[in-house]
Order: sequence, then C-alpha cells, then structure tokens
Amino acid sequence: MTAASSKIEQLFRDRFSRSSELYERSKSLFPSGVTHDSRYLKPFPIFADEASGSRKTSVEGHSIVDYWMGHGAMLLGHSHPAVVEAVQQQVARSTHPGSCHQLELEWGERVQKFVPSAEMLRFTNSGTEATLMALRVARIVTGRNKVVKFAGHFHGWHDSLINSSAPPHEGDSQDPGVTDGVYEDIIIIPPNDPLALEAAIDEHEPACVIHEGNGARWGVAPTRPEFLQDVRRITSEKNTIFILDEVITGFRVHSGGFQSVCGVVPDMTTMAKVLAGGLPGGCLAGRADLMQVLAFDNPLGRKMKHPGTYNANPLSAAAGVAALDLVATGEPSRQANEAAAAVRAAVNQVFTEKSARMVAYGAFSAIKILADYDGPRPDGDDFVPFDGDWRQLDRSFDKAFGHAFRCALLLGGVDWMGWAGSTSLAHDSSDVEQTATAFAQAVDLLREDGFDV
Ligand SMILES: Cc1ncc(COP(=O)(O)O)c(C=O)c1O
Repeated sequence: MTAASSKIEQLFRDRFSRSSELYERSKSLFPSGVTHDSRYLKPFPIFADEASGSRKTSVEGHSIVDYWMGHGAMLLGHSHPAVVEAVQQQVARSTHPGSCHQLELEWGERVQKFVPSAEMLRFTNSGTEATLMALRVARIVTGRNKVVKFAGHFHGWHDSLINSSAPPHEGDSQDPGVTDGVYEDIIIIPPNDPLALEAAIDEHEPACVIHEGNGARWGVAPTRPEFLQDVRRITSEKNTIFILDEVITGFRVHSGGFQSVCGVVPDMTTMAKVLAGGLPGGCLAGRADLMQVLAFDNPLGRKMKHPGTYNANPLSAAAGVAALDLVATGEPSRQANEAAAAVRAAVNQVFTEKSARMVAYGAFSAIKILADYDGPRPDGDDFVPFDGDWRQLDRSFDKAFGHAFRCALLLGGVDWMGWAGSTSLAHDSSDVEQTATAFAQAVDLLREDGFDV
C-alpha cells in the first residue's frame, strides 16, 4: 500500500492538515518529530490544542475521545476542576521555595495512609526515577547486584530496567547503549511462573525482584493475583526484596493500588502518574528499615544520595493532594473501570459483528486490543485470550498496520494509545458509543486499504 493509494492516509491528511504543518516544524527539532516514542505516528501525529474531561481537541478543532489519558496519569479526566483550582492557587504562592513545605507533608501523609507498604517514602520526578531509586536502595541494603525482572514488564527507561520491556522477546534483549555489565546484572524471567522465580533467585541471589503492577505494560499479559502472592511468599522465604512497580496501577485500580486488590504487601512500591494528579511526580515508598538508607547517619553507614531539583515540588504536591482526596472516595476507580468494561464489550461486539480478527480484553480501566486473533470470542469481561499465555499476548504486530489502525480510529474521533487505551472518571456512555462507531469504521477502512482484519 502506497501513501497515494491509501484511503486512510488521504482522509487523515485532509482531516488533520494543521497537525501536518506543525509536524513539519517538529521534525527539524525532535528526532522523528516527537517528544515521547509512543506518540510517533505515520504519516504524522496529531497535535492537541486543549483537553477537558474525557476529550482532547486537536489543533484543527476536532473533539476526540481520549484513551491516552496522560499516559494513564489522568484518572480524573483532563483539567478536573479540583486539580485546576489547587494548582492555580499554588502557582501564585510558590512553585519552588527550595525548602521543606507543608504540602509535601500532606501529599506524603496521603500516600502513607492509602498504600499498605508505604511506611516511609521519598518523592521523585517520575516513575523512571522511582524504579531507579528502588534498585539502588535494594542494592545498598543487601550488598548484592543482580535484579530479577519479568519479560515484558516496563519500569521506565533507565539502563537497568529498559531491557525486555517490550516485544519481541525472542533473542537478545540487551537494549542499544546499555553496557554489558548493567545488562548482565538483570535476570529476565517469564511472568506468572513461580518455579522460574524460585530457580532464578536460587541461582543468582539477587538484591531484589521487581514486578510491574498487574503485568506487562498495564496488563498486556495479566498477572494472576495468586502469582503476586507467590512472589511475596517466595521472596520472603528466600530473603529477597520484593519491589512492586505501581506507577500505573497505583491509585488507579484502587486507592491502595494493585497490592490492596491482591492482599499483598511488597517491601517497596514505586508510584507516579495518578499520584501527582497529572503533573510530573513519582515516589518510592516502603519498609522504614529499607527507606532508612536515604537517611543521614543511618545504621548501615552507607547513605544513598538523593538530590533532585524538583522533588516534591509544590505544584505537583498541590495537584497530588487534590487528586488523592478524590481517589480516596473510590469513585474515580469505580467509574473508570465501569467505562473500560463498557468499551471492551462494545468493541468486542463490533469485532464479532464484522467477523474481525481482533479482540478486546483487559482489567480495571485498561482496554487492550489484540490483532491477528482468530480464537474464541469473549464469554465475559474477565476473558483473557490464549488463557493468558504471555508469549501470544505480548507480541509485536506489523508496524504499518499499527499506524493505519491508529489513524483510522482518529478519523472516527478516537485517540488510541497504540494497541491499548485507558479510561477515566469522565468517560461516559456517549464516549463508548462514539468509540464503537469509530472501531466499526476503522475495520472497514483498514479492509479497504488491504489489511487482513
Ligand atoms: C509501570 C511503569 N513503571 C514505570 C514507568 C515510567 O514512569 P515515567 O514515565 O513517569 O518515567 C511507567 C510509565 O509508563 C510505567 O507504566
């Protein structure tokens, strides 16, 4: 399929002509014209002008149902009034006093209260920084270097954990630029496999095991709650630190995170996204004896250095406090989960009606789309394709198909985050309806363009 003969591309260029112009400027500024890899889209990404509730408005003025939701951060929807007001008040008071301040206390106390494992914490600027800190704490406390991670689990982009954070999982997963030494310290094992975990700990005596919330990239290959309980049991028996990365699940699936859903208390937890109400921010929380390595004059005599100009900055703290107070009511998670279930059902109905080789699945407020799928149709909302076999779920798809799929959905007024979407408190039945219509149109357009859907 060439650009000239692609109906999707022609329609897309017509509908998003201003974005196309802006992208020309963007390409000479940013490699591939984007500031986050996931936003890369062919022939060009759309540019957003503003966002409110469940929708964003493109620079052309098109209202689009948003399933990126700030990469998962906007559980409350875009520009929630409580967050807007908190940030507006704070911006005039101080954005960076370079001192301790009361809002960081209020923010931290909420984390400590809601998250079972959070005896003490430190704020960071992102989820990446939080997992980086978690590994360093574990290494200082144990004096060991190795880290066990699960294939496909994403923990941010720093050297230690970027390996095997996305398919393909066949062959070597050493990412370019990661040194051999760093790579050799990371032991990658299959998810949901207690025997593999036991064997890896016995063989490598790691400092820690890190697990992503509910499984690879917000549940592409879902973690069975019993497996998380196994991880807790096995790591305790083998005296290994267990870090649960709740950067996306934290405050989204439950005010206490996925650990509260599973009844598991990890040794340390990483959080970000919803934590800071849509502004930059993250944290590492955990057992007081472990977090003590960040303290001056700690009993180990080995302090972990932790500077960071914007740690716990008042704007993120203000947004975070406002957001967490709403999260504590349980309503945001409940409504976002309900909306996602409705989208999964509506989209699957479209796929069934059109005999499309696709299926939607997912838990909580996540919706995953699996392409090249010829298996049975879902028989309920807890359906997981291929009985959860991670190798079948967590695989790569044809890139041209992926771009065309996203463009086709955008033509129907739906912005899908690659093969996945997240909902918010603000998504309602009219969004679901528009989404189903957009999927139906996308299937037709993709077929017209010659894709085997
Ligand atoms: C589970 C998980 N861990 C870590 C990160 C990295 O967080 P950040 O993008 O804030 O650096 C992400 C981001 O998507 C994530 O989903």
